[in-house]
Amino acid sequence: MNNSENDNLDLNLLNGLFSKAKDPAQRFETINNFSRRLMPEWFLPMLNDTARNTYYTKMLEHSVKDKVVIDLGSGTGMWSIEALARGAKFVYVVEKNPILIQYLEFIFKDHPVKVLGKAFSELKASDFDHGQPQALVHEIFSNTGLGEGVITAFQKVSELFPDHSLTLFPRYFWFEARVFKQKPFELSETEKIHLKDKADAYYELIHSLGVRDWGSLKGINFSDKEVINLMFLDLNKIEQNKSYDLKAIPIDIAPGHVHHVYLSFKFSTELEGPYFDTLFEENHWGGFIVEFYISTAMKAGRKYLKMKLNDNQLFDHPRLEDTP
Ligand SMILES: C[S@@+](CC[C@H](N)C(=O)[O-])C[C@H]1O[C@@H](n2cnc3c(N)ncnc32)[C@H](O)[C@@H]1O
Repeated sequence: MNNSENDNLDLNLLNGLFSKAKDPAQRFETINNFSRRLMPEWFLPMLNDTARNTYYTKMLEHSVKDKVVIDLGSGTGMWSIEALARGAKFVYVVEKNPILIQYLEFIFKDHPVKVLGKAFSELKASDFDHGQPQALVHEIFSNTGLGEGVITAFQKVSELFPDHSLTLFPRYFWFEARVFKQKPFELSETEKIHLKDKADAYYELIHSLGVRDWGSLKGINFSDKEVINLMFLDLNKIEQNKSYDLKAIPIDIAPGHVHHVYLSFKFSTELEGPYFDTLFEENHWGGFIVEFYISTAMKAGRKYLKMKLNDNQLFDHPRLEDTP
């Protein structure tokens, strides 16, 4: 969406939105219709993600009445609308995308909402001048869970509200891996060329972007796989100036085989759940796969797959090492 399209927002369409969206039965549908016309493309599948909609709605249902709420990374404003519908007293809407800022300002102009149209890093304590926030809802998870900057965002939250008692929706975050040894592989000519350059193993991220239908990957039995926890975050305790990292993934190397590592994340408001687990939710965008072709020249035995976090959010290329 470029700036000239931005200037041509259909105000009639916008006009109808908020009143319709107040009806819970119509909320998702209305925003969905609207977004088909105006929103960035990737919003549509997200809005149709019924598992996500149900989970967030349940989280907010009985928790925001009479509260001052922050919606961090508001997007369509869906969780702000939900919070207001559940009796929130006031909502601070934070969003950096220019077209979304314009849209959010429009739909919330007659409501107890302040739109903070800026990046999280630009927020100041003085922006929150309509009452002390008591709850915060967010969904700043990219397909990698961390790629949209959830760690840096909560470093900012802890700077803005030291010793705060914000209730976070969600609060806990787990990043997990499951390792599969697949069948022996037949290399294509191109793969043979690649493999010649790498005597030990050839590996690459085959899905660096979210896999839609992730979680409905038919025929894969995840239930008997060991769950390897690579990271656990209590977002209420994120420390400023700390570099976060992922634990290594132990891999039992089978020479001549393809290995798959499924990486996914889950989150919750309570330590014991209920979780929103991107591995198992149908039609969710979360997760990615690292695929390895292990050369027959490599010795069997344990290796460790390591991925570093760059600036607490971007994944550097995975590599296999001998020690954890
Ligand atoms: C996954 S979407 C959330 C969607 C929203 N919950 C909804 O249902 O429409 C994340 C949103 O956060 C915004 N965002 C990401 N990083 C941001 C940042 N650093 N500052 C402000 N907004 C940000 C994105 O522009 C995007 O709209």
